[in-house]
Order: sequence, then structure tokens, then C-alpha cells
Amino acid sequence: MNNRLDYLHAMGIQTWQLKNQPVTMPACPSASTEEWTTLRQAVANCTACGLDKTRTQTVFGVGNTNAELMVIGEAPGFNEDEQGEPFVGRAGQLLTSMLEAIGFDRETVYIANILKCRPPNNRDPQPEEVNLCTPFLRQQIALIKPKLLLAVGRIAAHYLLDTKTALSQLRRQIHHYENIPLIITYHPAYLLRTPKDKSKAYQDLQLAIYTLNHNKQ
Ligand code: URA
Repeated sequence: MNNRLDYLHAMGIQTWQLKNQPVTMPACPSASTEEWTTLRQAVANCTACGLDKTRTQTVFGVGNTNAELMVIGEAPGFNEDEQGEPFVGRAGQLLTSMLEAIGFDRETVYIANILKCRPPNNRDPQPEEVNLCTPFLRQQIALIKPKLLLAVGRIAAHYLLDTKTALSQLRRQIHHYENIPLIITYHPAYLLRTPKDKSKAYQDLQLAIYTLNHNKQ
């Protein structure tokens, strides 16, 4: 696929002309490699919640550590646990298409999950697991200092907003997490099951781009 329209079609969405093209900003001074290495090691060695007993490997996060846009999902699934990278299965392919639909190559953003280990049988993360694991995510956010957070799905949205409000009511607003603008949208796995909501997800992505472009210094 070679242009945005192709990606929109891959998402299964009718197309219209995009007005706001994302602008690439000069990179800010980056967090030290040492800080990333220490954090990566801490995740790899973590046994805090017990999911180490069933994981193949930890799934740290992937992408540009100077990213303007950081995507936060739920937890690794089967493919991610096998490959050690977030969003590499079917849902991941759709996420990649969603990002490309708004002009972001996957490599230009940073992608991480609430949990760094796969819950058995892809069950929902348990509150204790979220409590024990999210300090890692918080450190990733602090090192990257993204200009926008995009939470995909209920688990990420509920954690970042500390709420239990239905995801459908959290969409279409600009929230904040520690002063960083935060947009909520559907999880790509949900969109694979419910393709009629892909156009709503595209509206959310438009809001994300709008927010990013209006929060540039
Ligand atoms: N679903 C998620 O939330 N994260 C992944 O990494 C894969 C699937």
C-alpha cells in the first residue's frame, strides 16, 4: 500500500479528503540510552504479579523514543508473547493501518501496553496486575514525553483516566493524563469484531491529529 487512501480502504472506511497533514517537528533532547536500558532490564526481570510463570517473554514496547504520538493498548496476546513486540497480530495490523490512515508510519510512534506480559488465554488484566505493572508504563511516558496519548480500548482508557465510564462515553473528548492530551478510541481487536464502528474510530483519529497539531509549540 502506498498512500493514505489505500490505508483507509484497508481499514474498511469510505474516504474523503484529509485537510490536516501531520507536521514533523525537530526532535527534542532524548532520554539517555542508559535510562531505557535500565527500564528494559527491569521489565525483562519482573516477576511481581506472577504472569512471568506463563509468559514466553515480556513485551516492553516498540517505536520511536522521541515520538510525538504514543499509543497505549491493553496487554500482549498470543503473537505478541511469541514475538516480544506489541500489536503484531491481526489487531496490530489494523492498528498499523489506522496509524497510516492519519499519516503516521508505525516506526514513527511509540506503542506500549498497560501490561508487559500476556494474561493466560487473553483474559482481562486483573487490578493487581495493572497496579504492579503500570509503573513501567508511567516511566515510558515520562521518558518519551509524547505530545499526545492515544488509548485504544477500555482497559487503557480506564487506567489512564482512573474511571469506569463506558468507552463510548469517553470518545470524542480531549482528556489529559498528567498534562498530556489523551484521546480514547476503540481497540482494534474490537473493530475487527465490529467493523461498523471503524468510521467512529477514524473520527477519533481525526480528533487525535487535530489535537496534536494544535498542541505544538
Ligand atoms: N492487544 C493489545 O492491547 N496489545 C497488544 O500488544 C496486542 C493486542
